[in-house]
Amino acid sequence: MTYKNEKLNEVKVFKDPVHRYVHVRDRVIWDLIATPEFQRLRRIKQLGTSNMTFHGAEHSRFNHSLGVYEIVRRIINKFQDKPHWNNAERLLCLCAALLHDLGHGPFSHSFEKVFKLDHEQFTQKIILGDTSVNQILEKVEPGFSQKVADVIGKTYADQLVVSLISSQIDADRMDYLQRDAYYTGVSYGHFDMERILRVMRPIDDQVVIKSTGMHAVEDYIMSRYQMYWQVYFHPVTRSAEVVLSKIFQRAKYLYENDYLFKLEPTHFISFFNEQPSLDEYLKLDEAIVFYYFQLWQEENDDILRDLCERFMNRRLFQYVDFNPNQQMQQVMKLTKLFHEVGINPDYYLVVDSSSDLPYDFYRPGEEEERLPIHLQMPNKELKELSRHSDIVEAISGKKRTDHKLYFPEDFLNELPQSDKVKEIKEILYGQGEVEYVD
Ligand code: NI
Repeated sequence: MTYKNEKLNEVKVFKDPVHRYVHVRDRVIWDLIATPEFQRLRRIKQLGTSNMTFHGAEHSRFNHSLGVYEIVRRIINKFQDKPHWNNAERLLCLCAALLHDLGHGPFSHSFEKVFKLDHEQFTQKIILGDTSVNQILEKVEPGFSQKVADVIGKTYADQLVVSLISSQIDADRMDYLQRDAYYTGVSYGHFDMERILRVMRPIDDQVVIKSTGMHAVEDYIMSRYQMYWQVYFHPVTRSAEVVLSKIFQRAKYLYENDYLFKLEPTHFISFFNEQPSLDEYLKLDEAIVFYYFQLWQEENDDILRDLCERFMNRRLFQYVDFNPNQQMQQVMKLTKLFHEVGINPDYYLVVDSSSDLPYDFYRPGEEEERLPIHLQMPNKELKELSRHSDIVEAISGKKRTDHKLYFPEDFLNELPQSDKVKEIKEILYGQGEVEYVD
């Protein structure tokens, strides 16, 4: 028996609160889970700062990755006897599902923005570089690691394989919506995945949905829409995200300006220089980040110290709604006034924008080109989902964007209430009601 086909003596199971059990029978999958690179995902939270809003949201990327693997495993089990499905791709699909988020770092969004990194690139580097994961994949067959990287990078020739991991209805999304709903405790995000799996069909290079399953898919799309606005873009989570980015920005600025840290931030140096090696990247998990935040609360730099105290003790920024088309002038005015009253607007006056496109039909060549979901009608004809579902049609192609202006209201209240401070408050509160983060 070759390594590629080797089965464990008995099925190993992981207890999972969302899918009940995750089943592993392939030796390759079992070995991949045991690598240091995959175990590292236990130390990276799936939702970054969401636990500041929903305290249950402490689940890791490890949980999610196992979940995506399990969904793909179940889909393939159902596909096995269907035409159009090539079972030789089975192990490739399972490996790509398991490893699709391998390159995520701590607090990915803020971290990547400040240090100009891309977790997808690191996923590729871990799979192709000098790592335990790479050794296992190459043992399957020479060149197998490249195939896995291509599936995750969406460039693999068989697009049916790619679409299981990334499309508008894929295993990644089906897992994170349910998992994030479970751990945050919200009542959105639930849908009948069992039903969707039963009505999925492989046809040529895509997965289509038997038309009788349309309502289950509508439910899934609505779940996604609601989870984005109720959980992922929650304004309090974004406030924590803003404070976090500003900590990284300040630390980097201080390093670049030869500030003498009380303890040299060894783990961060290569990130400040924007060229971490694979080794350095893999070493930085959330525990290390928190270790430095703890230390930086004792730093001499007022801004770094204050921002770390805020993040560690959840004293976040307040916010008002903001319309960039009409209110840019006011932000410029506020920037000037903040300087004048001694608050540094680079760190304490922050515009944050979030946008989402819940579902889109096919628009070739456009910036956010996406492949649509197709229904298979009783006469075997394929029909794009929004042409058949009124509910999906209502939100199709509609991008919604939300802008907010974040600032520490406590700073403004602590200052002597001069005319300038009053003017700042007038401008801010003129934007609408200030929202308290509590
Ligand atoms: Ni994922």
